Amino acid sequence: MASSSSLRSCSLFLFLILSSIFSLGFSTRTITNYTFSIREATIKDIKLSFERNQLTSRQLVQYYLREIARLNGLLKGIIEVNPDALLQADAADKERKCKVNGSLPNLHGIPILLKDNIATKDKLNTTAGSFALLGSVVPRDAGVVEKLRKAGAIILGKASLSEWANFRSTTATSGFSPRGGQGKNPYVLSATPCGSSSGSAISVAANLVTVSLGTETDGSILCPSSFNSVVGLKPTVGLTSRAGVIPVTPRQDTIGPICRTVSDAVYVLDAIVGFDSNDEATRHASYYIPPGGYKRFLNPYGLKGKRLGIVRNPFFKIAQGLGLGQTFDNHLHTLRRQGVIVVDNLQIANIDVILNVSASGEAVAIVAEFKLSLNA
Ligand SMILES: *[C@@H]1O[C@H](CO)[C@@H](O)[C@H](O)[C@H]1NC(C)=O
Ligand SMILES: *[C@@H]1O[C@H](CO)[C@@H](O)[C@H](O)[C@H]1NC(C)=O
Ligand SMILES: *[C@@H]1O[C@H](CO)[C@@H](O)[C@H](O)[C@H]1NC(C)=O
Ligand SMILES: *[C@@H]1O[C@H](CO)[C@@H](O)[C@H](O)[C@H]1NC(C)=O
Repeated sequence: MASSSSLRSCSLFLFLILSSIFSLGFSTRTITNYTFSIREATIKDIKLSFERNQLTSRQLVQYYLREIARLNGLLKGIIEVNPDALLQADAADKERKCKVNGSLPNLHGIPILLKDNIATKDKLNTTAGSFALLGSVVPRDAGVVEKLRKAGAIILGKASLSEWANFRSTTATSGFSPRGGQGKNPYVLSATPCGSSSGSAISVAANLVTVSLGTETDGSILCPSSFNSVVGLKPTVGLTSRAGVIPVTPRQDTIGPICRTVSDAVYVLDAIVGFDSNDEATRHASYYIPPGGYKRFLNPYGLKGKRLGIVRNPFFKIAQGLGLGQTFDNHLHTLRRQGVIVVDNLQIANIDVILNVSASGEAVAIVAEFKLSLNA
């Protein structure tokens, strides 16, 4: 969720995130000359190291716990660490021993961090960063968490966020919650990490975890992903279950991955999509999930021949205002070099109304829907 003032700035980063997606997507590794480092490791790297007996989930979790102890006091990307994370790692290591290579799900033994509005029925609290919900007991795991556990992922902890997914007030500070404190952008500590999935993006950017989940109502996955130079993927509403996620509005809320690479985001997406009887919107959306999952479409040359629309108004003006006009055009050159057909200067009718939550009626609608959804 984003307040009206941050909404406009969020939109600017819709295009910036594309640039990070493209640059990260091409960094495929040469497996033949393989030197493994946990720092910055992708799911594919980790999986291979598991199979070669070079790494265990326990070692991976221990690494992240050390990094969290070292950096989280400064970055405040994480509110709670799961006291059972090492136990889950040991269980994954044990299970891997009796399986043949390649037979386990991609997320098996992989640590993941969840935004603090995603419910877990375990020792972790689910509070949206607010003391109001501390000590509350959830009836069950969120639908996406149930799927993650089935895939063998390790729940490493809860990520900080803008309190109540930035629905606390219209003047709240991005990345701040009373329980989490002020999250910091690891690249520029004085700059905003953006929100509301701030901690999810901060933590993968700073290598405090392999992958994470965020939620979005208005830019809350895309904006922090862009600001922290990671890859955010905002699924169509209903593709991922909202059951057990503290709501803003059922017409817009969605849960998606925040990761360091496109491939990692796709592996996480594949694990969390699908039907959940506790969220009716997943029924229809599940018909569109491709057999074999989205990973089938990972392709380092996938941009070739794709038509990509560029909306300069108002985004280019905002970029220019930030001294990023040249950067904007450089990204377009990069896209063209990768074979993209850039359709420049697209105009969106009523763009000023669309970007103004008062004028569009969105503000009134979500305030009403929030009350109903939260009570439910
Ligand atoms: C492997 O990588 C190292 C370090 O980048 C390099 O020095 C070496 O020549 C490479 N070996 C092969 C076989 O490509
Ligand atoms: C699994 O795959 C790895 C790397 O490809 C290989 O080194 C290892 O021997 C394989 N293990 C088994 C049990 O097949
Ligand atoms: C959850 O909150 C309680 C306070 O109500 C606290 O004692 C407990 O340590 C928290 N759980 C974790 C995993 O931090
Ligand atoms: C947004 O719309 C409201 C209501 O129509 C209007 O009063 C306000 O000036 C608009 N804000 C901007 C920045 O255009």
